[in-house]
Amino acid sequence: MSFSDFFSEQAKRPSGLFGKLIMSLIFSKGNAALNQFTYELMSVQKDDKVLEIGFGTGTLINKIAQQLDKGMIEGIDFSDAMISIAKKRNKEYIKNGKVKLYNDSFDEINLEPDSYNTICSVNTIYFLDNPGKTIKKVAEILKPTGRFVLAFEEKPGKINDNIFKLYTIDEVHDFLIQAGFLGGVTMNSRNKGKELFHCAVAIK
Ligand SMILES: C[S@@+](CC[C@H](N)C(=O)[O-])C[C@H]1O[C@@H](n2cnc3c(N)ncnc32)[C@H](O)[C@@H]1O
Repeated sequence: MSFSDFFSEQAKRPSGLFGKLIMSLIFSKGNAALNQFTYELMSVQKDDKVLEIGFGTGTLINKIAQQLDKGMIEGIDFSDAMISIAKKRNKEYIKNGKVKLYNDSFDEINLEPDSYNTICSVNTIYFLDNPGKTIKKVAEILKPTGRFVLAFEEKPGKINDNIFKLYTIDEVHDFLIQAGFLGGVTMNSRNKGKELFHCAVAIK
């Protein structure tokens, strides 16, 4: 297996010691600015019910939990390595019921329709088998007028594009419109060094 195949597989689903030690560092450092951008665009309210898909090290979950009062945040990630890191980071919030983490694939898990105020996902769209179908599921489980914040980059590095598929702003915009986000879709971009990263905000 070439390094780009190995790295792409690890980015999709971190595993083993490499996942726990190296990928967690790469996510924490490399994805911090995009997570901050996502956080700002989520506009979470104190009583919201929130969901993050593909939470990685659980840093964004932790930041959102800090600002919730009666609300709660759930997270879904199918990597054992990431679940164990995110559980440690959010130990206190899991204890008091503010955070709930599921070790599962978002495409497989059963979730109640119309049940979340806000859903976010950062740097995960590249790994979805069928982004259009997954984004439709997001629309179904959001409450009416709920918000989906979907963050992604254009060029995340040396990758195998069979595993790590890049999408343009227009492609992501089309997925969101076709999924039924009738309240409007806005595309927001920021510079990261020479590269651009994007955060779509879609209203159901
Ligand atoms: C590149 S990491 C990004 C992690 C984090 N959002 C960040 O910005 O640092 C992608 C994460 O999504 C998870 N993931 C990918 N596809 C998934 C799916 N279909 N269901 C649940 N988790 C998924 C992976 O296990 C991994 O932790």
